[in-house]
Amino acid sequence: MTNLHSFFITTFGCQMNVYDSNLIASMLEGAGLAQAANAEEADIILINTCSVRGGAEDRAYARIAGMRQYKKKKKHLVIVVVGCMAQNHKEHIFDELEHVNYVIGPDNYNRLTDVLLGDEYSGKHSLTEQGGHNNYTGQAAKLDNTISVNIAIMRGCNKKCAYCIVPSVRGKEESRSPEDIYKEIQGAVNQGIPEVVLLGQTVNSYNYHGHRFAALLRDINNIRGLKRIRFTSPHPKHCNDELIQVMTDCSNVCNHLHLPVQSGSNAILKKMRRLYTREEYITFIQNLRASIPRLGLTTDIITGFVGESQKDFEDTLSLVQEVRFDSAFMFSYSPREGTPAYSEKETLSEIEKGARLRQLITLQNTISAEKVREMIGMQETILLEGPSRQNKEELIGKTSCFKKVVVPGSKNLNPGELIKVKLVDVKGNTLIGNSIIASDN
Ligand code: SAH
Ligand code: SF4
Ligand code: F3S
Repeated sequence: MTNLHSFFITTFGCQMNVYDSNLIASMLEGAGLAQAANAEEADIILINTCSVRGGAEDRAYARIAGMRQYKKKKKHLVIVVVGCMAQNHKEHIFDELEHVNYVIGPDNYNRLTDVLLGDEYSGKHSLTEQGGHNNYTGQAAKLDNTISVNIAIMRGCNKKCAYCIVPSVRGKEESRSPEDIYKEIQGAVNQGIPEVVLLGQTVNSYNYHGHRFAALLRDINNIRGLKRIRFTSPHPKHCNDELIQVMTDCSNVCNHLHLPVQSGSNAILKKMRRLYTREEYITFIQNLRASIPRLGLTTDIITGFVGESQKDFEDTLSLVQEVRFDSAFMFSYSPREGTPAYSEKETLSEIEKGARLRQLITLQNTISAEKVREMIGMQETILLEGPSRQNKEELIGKTSCFKKVVVPGSKNLNPGELIKVKLVDVKGNTLIGNSIIASDN
């Protein structure tokens, strides 16, 4: 008999980790455990970690260290570190965090319930072997909201970006079978979920025995009852006319692309091993915008990579000015042990990197605000998600191009519905929309 009845999961990192946490929740519930309302009440605490930047690891270490107090109060508590940092630091995690029981990397979640509930692994264990389609068990992840479901369609990454830890912690690219993908989406749609977000490290390099991303999108577009399809993150190297055509043809595929550019300097792109030039990136966006004029375009940018000169940085600023992203995630370069760039001596101080980052953020914030304002006066279809934080009487939703819209006086409307609105104003970066006619089909 086990005295483990409930679990709690804390998640750091990207949407893939959010998906994996839901997958783990579904596995543990399948084994008869219940999800606890908070960490204090749980018999098992899992911390799903990220290694992408030093800060992400520091935050995970601090959080796990803080869990010693729970262990003092509850002797049978089991603490499990999962995710990318588990893979990255392996059993070394026990050195600093002696109260951790298990360290389990992303390719070993299929053994989680055995580890936690079986007799085979008592004491401390780390499971970090890599490879194999271990997460494609056919199991659907637990739904964590009623509007949108994340679904992994591929895992791992075959690129070798010089700064990035992901290929080493997530392993080689593995695409999931279309049947499993449809089944998981259909399951969510049957429960009333209107939106799916397809996930992969380089989602548009999806290739299951010749069945590629564009074909997959077309098929998913035909799933009845599904209203919206998003995907993240595509890689520019795999962006082509076929992707433009699919996004143009498929009415449920949203007019939004999150396309990480990382830098506007060809010299830095080359050093980063990104496999495209500034000009190729810009040309693709021009072509996509020619077909989808109201495209929402977002990106990721790193400032202060090894060897980034003032001129290289200015190239990034000028690219941001030229492309005019709707928004961007912007990061200061964080050297990661085990990546190709790690052995190269940094050429900028933390202060210089930080100053460039702030300058970039200021520029992007101005553009983001302008892009939102440009939408005033337009009509858009939004998917209602739920009440706004400030006022429970008004609903908040998103346009296809990923802009937040609040709809005052939406008492008679329901989350999950698609409605047409006229955008009349903006508050902060949230648009205000007046409902025109319900068009839920
Ligand atoms: N697979 C995605 C990105 C995954 S990581 C892609 O290829 O686009 C998310 C973002 O974190 C990256 O786009 C990059 O901008 C940032 N990032 C990754 N490694 C980093 C590092 N060492 N330092 C700073 N930012 C980093
Ligand atoms: Fe990292 Fe590059 Fe792979 Fe993205 S494509 S996960 S940045 S190695
Ligand atoms: Fe972090 Fe792993 Fe995602 S390193 S960004 S959680 S794939």
